[in-house]
Amino acid sequence: MKFSVFASGNGTNLQAIIDAVKTGEIKAELGLVFSDNKKSLALKRAEEAGIKTLCLEYRNYTNKQSFDRDIVIALKEHEIDFVVLAGYMRLLTPYFVEQFPRRIINIHPSLLPSFKGIQGIKDAFTYGVKTTGVTVHFVDEKMDHGPIILQESLKILSNDTLESIEEKIHKIEHRIYPKAVQLFVEGRLRIKGRKVIVLDEPQFF
Ligand code: GRF
Repeated sequence: MKFSVFASGNGTNLQAIIDAVKTGEIKAELGLVFSDNKKSLALKRAEEAGIKTLCLEYRNYTNKQSFDRDIVIALKEHEIDFVVLAGYMRLLTPYFVEQFPRRIINIHPSLLPSFKGIQGIKDAFTYGVKTTGVTVHFVDEKMDHGPIILQESLKILSNDTLESIEEKIHKIEHRIYPKAVQLFVEGRLRIKGRKVIVLDEPQFF
């Protein structure tokens, strides 16, 4: 199987995935890294790892669908089977989601459905919740919404700061995202309505 990672910023989750492909924890080919931000560290990380990259910037387009259409064309050219969003800051159009049905996953730094949006860690911390966490989920046309694959919780202690929580959240992300990707690669994820069943035995495609 061949996949693409989409990232707009730092790309620390991308890096965890690159490393997991290298060690064999993820048994699939990372065929293309896509970014909508040419200044992103994510692109640099991909180039340094010798992975093919593509950068398209939305300001050169007049509407979301034509932007997503060009990305889809590139993904098909590269024979990409599934897409992993890792800090990709744009909402995919329904058109894009239809092109990769049940084949797009995302990571979000809160326990969904709480604290959707771009500031999940900060919003949870500021709200004063005692437990937050990380969610990996399938992507549908709504933001941070599709069926949940994995979640891991994290207690917020009285001496935690936003920075310490961010650090702990990212550590969890870098550990569980490669695991979730490999579960997908092994064909162990079955979607039943809003629920995702994780099968015990690998069913290789
Ligand atoms: C992560 O916290 C991820 O959960 C969220 O965006 C952030 C991306 O961080 N979707 P990085 O670019 O992988 O460092």
